[in-house]
Amino acid sequence: AAIEKGGYEHFMIKEIHEQPQAIFDSLRGRLDPESLNITLSGLDTIKEKLIAAKRVIIVACGTSWHAGLLAEYWIEELCRVNVEVEYASEFRYRNPIITPEDIIIAISQSGETADTLVALENAKAQGATIFGIVNVVGSSIARVSDAGIYTHAGPEIGVASTKAFSAQLTVLLLFAIKLAEFKQSASEELRKQLSKELSEVPDKVKYILDSTVEDIKVIAKKYQNATDFLFLGRGYNFPIALEGALKLKEISYIHAEGYPAAEMKHGPIALVDETLPVVFIATKDRVHEKIVSNMQEIKARSGKLISVVTEDDQLAISLSDEHIKIPASHEMIAPILAVIPLQVLSYYVGIERQIDVDRPRNLAKSVTVE
Ligand code: G6P
Repeated sequence: AAIEKGGYEHFMIKEIHEQPQAIFDSLRGRLDPESLNITLSGLDTIKEKLIAAKRVIIVACGTSWHAGLLAEYWIEELCRVNVEVEYASEFRYRNPIITPEDIIIAISQSGETADTLVALENAKAQGATIFGIVNVVGSSIARVSDAGIYTHAGPEIGVASTKAFSAQLTVLLLFAIKLAEFKQSASEELRKQLSKELSEVPDKVKYILDSTVEDIKVIAKKYQNATDFLFLGRGYNFPIALEGALKLKEISYIHAEGYPAAEMKHGPIALVDETLPVVFIATKDRVHEKIVSNMQEIKARSGKLISVVTEDDQLAISLSDEHIKIPASHEMIAPILAVIPLQVLSYYVGIERQIDVDRPRNLAKSVTVE
């Protein structure tokens, strides 16, 4: 077993460290690092349908649903098409309106999640086109899809999803940039910039892992006995706040909530006191000033601020009790980077609390029954 883990103590931390490779593999043969051209053969057969679609519906569960939520922000921004993100378990039972013009994007690591699979079968029966973003080749969801793109994360053993998530984000952003090219809905300059920065993500993720893990261990030790955590983000980082909270509760058993940073005023702010760690995902983007003022609001109520910030952001750093720096990037790329330290934080909090991080209680790697 030690050999399988390649020198790491657990699959989860091994898989966290495999992310530069998983992202690289998911880009390989698809994004040419020289010309920055994107080739996604999976799109060819449904190209006309994609261009004509008035609506894209993303269906998934768990961490894959969080990838879908971020994809909504990306696709709406770049492709100017309406996107809805649905929990598969809700979608399948509530008689949704589906037409043959709809594109359904299914996101699943295992390709075997029962709710996702049945939701797709129902939508397919109503004529929708199914596009699968799946990690396991030949899985049930891959087979039910009309077209798709595989993530190339490799086998994921740890129950808490890490490298499958960053590979999903990689492929979803590639998809959004390519669809924007088909539709001419985003400038060539922006598409090329995003493609270029996407090609740099593997190195940046490696840099983040090399430069932050030791500091994060210290933070994990310090806050391991908290009873609750709040994770706040806005815009592209809101889905990352949800994912950070999910990761922490899965493998540390600490109650954690992810919230849109401004929406916390409508409830979670009542929880804030000097014992509450509040994790801000506050990289520099169009809503940065807004989130900085949310940080000030938490600070004024004595909450403990742990922030993921862009490396030169002195203001956010000065407001924070703890900070984790990540390299500057385009605001659409930043969430792919920002999730990495949150995975690491969860892992080390779980370790401090002596949780079986690879097999946390009550959870399954793949939920094949409803
Ligand atoms: C389970 C796993 C999660 C995963 C979710 C969806 O809850 O523990 O890590 O995100 O299922 O799984 P899928 O294989 O469809 O992505």
